[in-house]
Amino acid sequence: MQSLSHRLIIIIVLFSILLAPLQIARAADFKRETIYQIITDRFFDGSSSNNNPSQSAGLYDSTKTNWRAYWGGDLPGIQQKMSYLAGMGVTAIWISPPVDNLNTNIPDGNGNPTASYHGYQTRDFKRIEEHFGNSSNSWTEFDNLVTAAHSNGIKVIIDFAPNHSTQNNAGEFGALYDNGSFLGNFTNDSNGYFNHNPNISGGGWDDRYQVQYYTLFDLSDINQMQPTMDAYLKAAAQLFQQHGVDGFRIDAIKHLNWGWQYSLANSIYTFGDSFLFGEWFQGNTSDPLYADSYKYANKTGISMLDFPLNAAIRNVFGSNANFSEIDSVLTAEGGNFTWKEDLVTFIDNHDMARFLSINNNNNRLHEAMAFTLTSRGIPCIYYGTEQYLHNDTDGGTDPYNRPMMTNFSTSTTAYQLVNKLSTLRRNNPAIPYGSMGQRWINNDVYIYERKFFGNVVLVAINKNETSSYNISGLNTSLPAGSYSDNLTGLLGGLSITVSTGSGGNNPVTNFTLPAHAVSVWQFAEGASTPQIGSIGPTAGQPGVKTVIAGKNFGTTPGTVKFGTTTATVNSWSATQITVTTPSVTNGNYSVTVTNSGGQVSNGIQYTVLTAKLIPITFTVNNATPTQVGDYIFLTGNTVELGNWATTWQGAVGPMLTPNYPNWFLVASVPAGQTIQFKFIKIAANGAVTWEAGSNHQFTVPASGTSFVNVNWQY
Ligand code: NOJ
Ligand code: NOJ
Repeated sequence: MQSLSHRLIIIIVLFSILLAPLQIARAADFKRETIYQIITDRFFDGSSSNNNPSQSAGLYDSTKTNWRAYWGGDLPGIQQKMSYLAGMGVTAIWISPPVDNLNTNIPDGNGNPTASYHGYQTRDFKRIEEHFGNSSNSWTEFDNLVTAAHSNGIKVIIDFAPNHSTQNNAGEFGALYDNGSFLGNFTNDSNGYFNHNPNISGGGWDDRYQVQYYTLFDLSDINQMQPTMDAYLKAAAQLFQQHGVDGFRIDAIKHLNWGWQYSLANSIYTFGDSFLFGEWFQGNTSDPLYADSYKYANKTGISMLDFPLNAAIRNVFGSNANFSEIDSVLTAEGGNFTWKEDLVTFIDNHDMARFLSINNNNNRLHEAMAFTLTSRGIPCIYYGTEQYLHNDTDGGTDPYNRPMMTNFSTSTTAYQLVNKLSTLRRNNPAIPYGSMGQRWINNDVYIYERKFFGNVVLVAINKNETSSYNISGLNTSLPAGSYSDNLTGLLGGLSITVSTGSGGNNPVTNFTLPAHAVSVWQFAEGASTPQIGSIGPTAGQPGVKTVIAGKNFGTTPGTVKFGTTTATVNSWSATQITVTTPSVTNGNYSVTVTNSGGQVSNGIQYTVLTAKLIPITFTVNNATPTQVGDYIFLTGNTVELGNWATTWQGAVGPMLTPNYPNWFLVASVPAGQTIQFKFIKIAANGAVTWEAGSNHQFTVPASGTSFVNVNWQY
């Protein structure tokens, strides 16, 4: 029999193992990460035992000729390539949805079998897909992958697709399981687990109601406000956090109930820190829902993939458009996105032709990569880019943009480039946190500067294939001195000399930028006052932990203040501090760090929520009169309700009106609180009309979902 002390030791060890992952600050400093996107099925076949599992037999094509079948890539395969990834400088991997997917074959209409090898047709959000792990759908291979990634300094982001389950008209008809127990399906939906609306089509793609509540490509549209679904999806996300996941790429956020997602993010952040970014597809900053996208990113605490910049990158480097196109997207977004440095930037992904399919020119690919890795935002490299992988069938679009990886060479220029620039991102805070400013531009040349306090990175790109350019009149914030190319000539860069000027404009001695050259020069300042570059999450109720990252915090703990209130510090290092959101009145606060020597940092914005968020459907009936272009909004007495704001960005909305003149909207509001609110009309010209009468009042339940239904007060 074991002695008591022996048992105690075992308990303590078990406890520390359980608690250890919670103490790692995961979301901290995601701006310093270099993400690599993997289509799990198409990366590497690490285990042949899961290629043709019995519960979904026949979906595997060993010949790799049916592009819509499973090809064998799996979680052990990613694990086996971990040192290849670490050697490239990748610090985070985004993998396909790893959850149990559709088991059946759905012919594509032309008689070809198709399988859910991509992972976007979930049948069980709490189990691992048998083609990726093992035939018991258990977590073993997933856990092994996370462990291997973490021990190589690589974070793991899963793709999470809570908008829908499987196809509603075939296969398993949307059937969902909760860790193996059947919940329901689309065809026999007595519990209201699904929204039963037509497919989104035509003008519906720009309609706020249809994009959220209609069906995306026949995929059974989950009703996240149904309490079982709400709890199930949040529990599934938490299960992945318990299994060590560092972040979530949320699929199709434009098509998921926007208001519900505030509560999803809050639920994830309440459990532990994480980095969340979603897929809000849009072509450019003139998209009809662009303002909705940045309102969402500024308030939900969920960042997004930068589609407008992606389009500009493809136009400029792929189709030879002028650099002004990139420059103007950066300027527009810079004015709109509060957390622009958290936007995830990319050249291509699994839903569009690979770069080399639109322009088969490695120089241009290198230039686009160097730009993405050094400009504002968190770079994400699509798997195979570093091996020049592409298949140009049908213009290289889906599924031909998802070939099997064949080479894992560590000596390609692209592989080296990722490595050098990922290292610079970790070493010089100007890249993750700094401002982005244009210093010199013409149609072919873009010279831009990243600056964070005294830390500076200057980048020059010439995309002309044959002409060099004489660069005169260039100024920089780099201090006077000589700078060699941080890429050591990998892309034809050179050294420059800077002399002393004034007002942050130090002249660079004229030089010639060769054809298709990229040069990177950098300066990292020494000790100085504390400098905050990042906070994540950006919102939370008292008790939620947030991570502040930056420079010069010192190794001896000082203090962190939310406004004038001192917060409890959980961990402190020279570059990263974890604090607990203090019990202060809800609202926006400026967070500052005071080092042990009494020096105070810059402030960074943080929103203190009132309490944990609960999604509520607010309906106001008969809100008339309204003209075309007028919208009804919700506003109320807490920060979640806009603190009585009456502006488009400040109030909650616009509300939706599938049954005019009744309007509804889901908003996530503080649990257990009695909230005061009213509905307002914001007219097309901005004029505000309040409904009459006294404020409406509602006591928010402590958990679950609920609704409020009132009449507009005249
Ligand atoms: C967007 C994903 O990126 C795409 O590949 C997928 O098919 C759809 N969402 C539906 O989940
Ligand atoms: C809420 C009240 O109901 C409304 O009438 C008033 O204008 C706003 N608060 C602003 O104080």
